[in-house]
Amino acid sequence: MYLMLERYFEDMEVLHENTMPYRSYYIPTDKQGKARFINLNGDDWQFKLFDNPFEIDEYNTSGYDTITVPSSWNMLGYDSHLYANTKGPIPFIPPYVPDENPTGVYIKQFTMDGESLKFKNYINFDGVDSCFYLWLNDKFIGYSQVSHATSEFDISDMLVEGINTMRVVVLKYCEGTFLEDQDKFRMSGIFRDVYIVQRPQKHVRDFTVRTALTDCFSVAEIEIDVEGNADYEIKLLDGDTVIYEGASPKFTVQNPKLWSAETPYLYTLNIICDDEIIPYKIGIKQVIIKDSVLYINGQNVKIKGVNRHDSNAYTGAAISREQLIADLNLMKEHNVNAIRTSHYPNSPWAYELYSEYGFYVMAEADLECHNTADLYGGGHLYNSKQQGGIDDYTFGMLCHDPNYYDAMLDRIKACVIREKNSPCIFMWSLGNESGYGPNLEKCAAWIKEFDPAALIHYESSVYQKVGYTNDLTNIDVYSRMYICPDTVAEYCDSNPAKPIVLCEYSHAMGNSNGDLERYYETMQRYDTYMGGFIWEWNDHAIYMGKDVNGKDKFFYGGDFKDFPNAGNFCLDGLIHPNRLPKTNLLEFKNVHRPIRAKFVEGKILLTNQQDFLNVDGNYVIRVFQLIDGTIVSSSVYENFDLPARETRELDFVAEDDHYHDDNYIMIKYYDMDNQIVGFDQLMLNKSEITIEQPTSNLHIEDMATKIIVSSDKMRIVFDKFKCAPETIVCNNISYLAKPMDYNIFRAPTDNDRKIIREWRAAGYDRTKVKRLDYKIDGNQIEFNFIITAVYLQAIMQVKAIYTINLDTIQVSISATKDPVFPELPRFGMRMYVDKSFQNVTYRAYGPYESYCDKHNLCYLDSFNTTVSEMYEDYIVPQEHGSRYGADFVKLMNSGNSVIVASDGFSFNVSNFTQEQLFKTPHNFKLVPEDFVTLCIDYKNAGIGSSSCGQAKLYEKYAIMEDEFKFDFVISLN
Ligand code: GAL
Ligand code: MG
Repeated sequence: MYLMLERYFEDMEVLHENTMPYRSYYIPTDKQGKARFINLNGDDWQFKLFDNPFEIDEYNTSGYDTITVPSSWNMLGYDSHLYANTKGPIPFIPPYVPDENPTGVYIKQFTMDGESLKFKNYINFDGVDSCFYLWLNDKFIGYSQVSHATSEFDISDMLVEGINTMRVVVLKYCEGTFLEDQDKFRMSGIFRDVYIVQRPQKHVRDFTVRTALTDCFSVAEIEIDVEGNADYEIKLLDGDTVIYEGASPKFTVQNPKLWSAETPYLYTLNIICDDEIIPYKIGIKQVIIKDSVLYINGQNVKIKGVNRHDSNAYTGAAISREQLIADLNLMKEHNVNAIRTSHYPNSPWAYELYSEYGFYVMAEADLECHNTADLYGGGHLYNSKQQGGIDDYTFGMLCHDPNYYDAMLDRIKACVIREKNSPCIFMWSLGNESGYGPNLEKCAAWIKEFDPAALIHYESSVYQKVGYTNDLTNIDVYSRMYICPDTVAEYCDSNPAKPIVLCEYSHAMGNSNGDLERYYETMQRYDTYMGGFIWEWNDHAIYMGKDVNGKDKFFYGGDFKDFPNAGNFCLDGLIHPNRLPKTNLLEFKNVHRPIRAKFVEGKILLTNQQDFLNVDGNYVIRVFQLIDGTIVSSSVYENFDLPARETRELDFVAEDDHYHDDNYIMIKYYDMDNQIVGFDQLMLNKSEITIEQPTSNLHIEDMATKIIVSSDKMRIVFDKFKCAPETIVCNNISYLAKPMDYNIFRAPTDNDRKIIREWRAAGYDRTKVKRLDYKIDGNQIEFNFIITAVYLQAIMQVKAIYTINLDTIQVSISATKDPVFPELPRFGMRMYVDKSFQNVTYRAYGPYESYCDKHNLCYLDSFNTTVSEMYEDYIVPQEHGSRYGADFVKLMNSGNSVIVASDGFSFNVSNFTQEQLFKTPHNFKLVPEDFVTLCIDYKNAGIGSSSCGQAKLYEKYAIMEDEFKFDFVISLN
């Protein structure tokens, strides 16, 4: 007997069968406060995966495995992995899905005693991807979909005393799949909690809490709309203190403590019935938009947010409370104050944590139809005619199709009704990248009717079908993705009718988040720019165990031969798949430090960047003055009175002698747990690095292909065609493992993924040197040469003068670049040093990687490290580890050293070459070279964040000059 499934999974008319109406999330308790809750999660679920939903043998349970629920079945070795973005995993013929539709059958047994059966019993599924059919004791209970929604069924009448057997049939695809085309690994199964709540026969089913603030926030008018068939009383507690008790659902709280991300103050609401209590943590806050500015509790707060997916390299879409808490702690430590639940609701308990930890949440509905943009002959254009494209507007076609209205509204309701009471939510989001049209206009209207005070976000409302005019009345903010700070500023300067938010910006793919400071400055400059959410919190990948060398293997799109796949576009987080912070997150952290310091006319001024908290009582400031690396004076400010957004002078007096030395003030900000939350370095003086260049007798031999220069200590062989040293021997030690060369390329970062086309067309990745002439003059050798590539004209003409002394080589380069060529990745020389030179000392922005547009995470000082410590482990190898603002770098082995010094240069030291990084798709496949590569750069281009969106690297950080000079000294010891 095959199990007969009604074809609800392809039926737009049947979204759910026998589910309860949506309600607020809560776990009821008995009068003693014990939860009336039966947890059905566990490792005793039986499971079998079928190829399709049509061949499930109803009575045969052989071949079932035992698995843990919640989980994503793909992570347990069933089915396969697929990482897709806009190109969906199945043909776009909604509502029809493929007949090859992997289907998991879950069987779970649980025991109920007679006492339990006296209650009404409701089973809840907090997340099942993509849809499911439910049976209990062989009776059909119902059907539901919307992967990231709670589905509740009343199973009271089907339960028996003793053992109950439940069967859940989960399909990988249903018509809802067309509305869930989010950019992520597509995972299936029961991936969130399953539990029963037990209720008295008569009970409160739902409640809605509204908190209005009046009289300058001194009075909160609380109104609780309670729905159900039981009598109730209401109690509101502030800690243990009862501040209201009574039957009226309307009352006031005097001088309420307001909830904000900085002050996540929660009250406990109890709805008390005869035989039950519903406990709920509420927060009192006011969120409004006035004169195109977002105000929370009267303050024009700034959203310093991240986009967060349910995504983990070890557990897929199934995220435990512990995992989330670890992430939230990491976010707090790095000054994140907001989360967009991209692109669907999270587990209901996640919002409790967001409220408790203090995050402003943009709560997004489970809706994305990005697939509509990628149809044959279709498009993604705002207004395709204007952009010279085709007239067929496909992006957003489902928003114009009335058949999809119910399904869309259902998804909005699933999000809003369950989380309507969550203190953390400051704005709803209709979904992501589904285009726009009448369906979503009506959904927005529904939210406003449900809660007139609610604020609504929807980025794709900027897309408009040709011949149709979008109704934006109910969309409260102007939302964009990935636009550059100047475009934001232009909008803010245009006297806008709505505030602007960047629901996604500064795409954190690979080595990224350059130029973050400029977004921050723009956010400070304009009240109408409320801030935004970095895309995104973490890299998505799949952990595949260790390779033979014991290195972790993380796979991305395409590694599973998945089709279609979006490659490594999922590796775009502030943290790595193993959840270690990338330098991206460190940069975010210090850009968003809660306090900032600057020197103004010899005074140190501190500004409190927070929206509510005084520095006093929340932060401790430690100030040090360092001269040549030694602390010469320090002060601790434990009670620095500095209200939010204000600026005051710090009375730290710097020692003012030793001005010729390295001299700076370091100001470190600590939270009350003594964790550092940010720092400022104020430079007083930077000493010049001087390299002694003692003269020597020189012997120069000019041969057919080489020039050999010998001093009393050193012997250098120049390749006359490559115009550079090929061997350098000093004190009988051979320093070069390979000839030096000129270098204008770098292993592209993910942000270089667009400009790389131009770089390759310009031949930057395969340059050659053609010597024009050379000259020997005293201790100087001058080469004039061209840098070019096969079949291309000269990229640049270069003059390089080598001045040779006893044990130093001074290199003076001047270059003229043909302006027709694109901006350079970098310009410099490479030295390939013997691999024993593993110790590194340098003075530059450190101790992390730093670039011209990414060095807020760093400070200027001397650092000791090793070549392998300078390696940054990006899953897809790319340019990394550069140091910006350097004046010297010294490589050492046990007895010798090479110093390279210049004024404000950049360098990288690595056991890998850029060529190897470029061609190796996975970090675990990198093999250290037999030498150490030192890139000595006049400049290394900025990092930017243009892996997504139209924004290009900001001009100031691109290497645009057509003429430049670069001098450096190599000194050997
Ligand atoms: C956005 C989208 C995100 C993600 C990002 C690229 O367009 O909303 O879901 O795909 O681009 O990483
Ligand atoms: Mg998308």
